[in-house]
Amino acid sequence: MMREVHSVEETWALAKEVAETLKPGEVVCLEGDLGAGKTTFTQGLAKALGVEGRVTSPTFCIVQEHRAKSPAPGRPGLLVHMDLYRLHGEDDVIAIGWEDYLAEGAVIVVEWPERAGSLIPPTARRIEFRHLDGEERRLIQILV
Ligand SMILES: Nc1ncnc2c1ncn2[C@@H]1O[C@H](COP(=O)(O)OP(=O)(O)O)[C@@H](O)[C@H]1O
Ligand SMILES: [Mg+2]
Repeated sequence: MMREVHSVEETWALAKEVAETLKPGEVVCLEGDLGAGKTTFTQGLAKALGVEGRVTSPTFCIVQEHRAKSPAPGRPGLLVHMDLYRLHGEDDVIAIGWEDYLAEGAVIVVEWPERAGSLIPPTARRIEFRHLDGEERRLIQILV
């Protein structure tokens, strides 16, 4: 599915659609250049899952945990946002809690997923972001 979005609000609305299909323990891989809209999309996912705090880029802290205030039964209650750019391989990714997060039913949203190698399950969602010409146009492609 490919969608062109023309505002942050439209990005949030698409993220809400995706969030509604997410189950505990799922991995969502985000790909695309700086400024393409990955963090904005993650904000939409978080809001749809009932997270109330601010979602900012995990570039400097590598991993950020966002808990839902009162998750609905069976719905993911924890969104973990990772930026793996500065990690060097699977051991690093395990060291920051990858398997523990999944075991506790978190949804992991991951930027630079290639760093996680074979830890990315075959069932992971893949979403690509592209900044088109013009200030607000973004292309969001939901690959799986
Ligand atoms: N349609 C849109 N979707 C997402 N962000 C948009 C859109 N239009 C403008 N923006 C702006 O572009 C920037 C996107 O940055 P961000 O989501 O942080 O990208 P990334 O995390 O991929 O680097 C934000 O400043 C946001 O306000
Ligand atoms: Mg970002």
